[in-house]
Amino acid sequence: MKNKEKIKPFKKEKIFLSHSYFKYPLPAMLLKELSTELKDINLYPSGGGYSQLCQVLAEHVGVNRENILPTNGSDEVIEIVTRAYQGEVLIPIPTFFQYEVSADRSGLPKVLVNCLHNREYNINYSAKQLKKTSLIWICNPNNPTGTGIPREKIIDILQRTKGMVVVDECNYEYLEETMVDLIDKYDNLVISRSFSKNFGLAGLRLGFAISNPQNIRRLAAFGQYFRVNRMAEKAAEKVLKYLDYYQKAWEKIKKTRDKFVRQINELGFFAYDSKANFVLVEFRDKEECKKIWKHLKERGVYALPGWENEFSGLGDQFIRFTIGEDWEMDRVVEALSDYVKRCRRGDLNPHRHTPTTP
Ligand SMILES: Cc1ncc(COP(=O)(O)O)c(C=O)c1O
Repeated sequence: MKNKEKIKPFKKEKIFLSHSYFKYPLPAMLLKELSTELKDINLYPSGGGYSQLCQVLAEHVGVNRENILPTNGSDEVIEIVTRAYQGEVLIPIPTFFQYEVSADRSGLPKVLVNCLHNREYNINYSAKQLKKTSLIWICNPNNPTGTGIPREKIIDILQRTKGMVVVDECNYEYLEETMVDLIDKYDNLVISRSFSKNFGLAGLRLGFAISNPQNIRRLAAFGQYFRVNRMAEKAAEKVLKYLDYYQKAWEKIKKTRDKFVRQINELGFFAYDSKANFVLVEFRDKEECKKIWKHLKERGVYALPGWENEFSGLGDQFIRFTIGEDWEMDRVVEALSDYVKRCRRGDLNPHRHTPTTP
């Protein structure tokens, strides 16, 4: 359906760039359509099979409905996969913290492998690690570095292990590269997707797993009968009719993101190139980072620092910024540029900031 609605920004005083979610309003027509479903919330969702929802999701990604397991957000994929394939868990850090949290909840041994060297995030597992493991996480693009993981690298891992390889594609809409076409070729591949990040349904909780029918049946046994609520079930069908609205928004966010990366680097800090809706910035050290974080907060900008426990293995010299609207990112750049000027003038410990070369 062609949607003529313009993408209008919300206007707010404070700027919240901590959580990575869709920061534009949902199409007004979509909200209207959804509100007509409220009168039926006395009814249960479709339950067990969720066959209509599976069909919609399957058509969206180009697989069969037997390849789909709808879940209560993609966090639930992380939880049930961890419970279904128990054993040693390989986690490439720095990355999203829920892989570790779910492993801990199940009391599983974890192997955290540092993949960030010289400002490059590269997943490199040894043959021994791949032989021993039951479950391997690959976040693509990786949260928080925003790095896209090359397809050949994932295929290499799939071929060298008998463990279950889970590719978290919750930011697929920005990367536009997927492993979905390989679910029949590799029986140790599960893919996870989300409606939170890029469709604006974080509050409704809708995600899904994609794999071969045998894996999907196994995973389903670890979830509840009514995993997905009725409004989320209805929202999936409706939201996908507005793809052109979302595509315009994603393009806009990508432009804002790439401009933000350039501006941050011009100021002498180090912003990682990102294939997601957030950007990771590295400061000189923890001390500088803490000062900058405080400086931003005093100017109403809230972003996610490394010490907040949202990531496994991220140092205290990092802050992750979700990409908001242009005016929001301009405010961040203004605040950082003011910080740099004040350092140069000597108001703020001048010896701590000198432009760095990446
Ligand atoms: C990499 C990654 N995977 C999964 C999730 C979970 O998202 P949701 O449960 O909202 O689908 C998040 C949320 O922050 C994330 O960053």
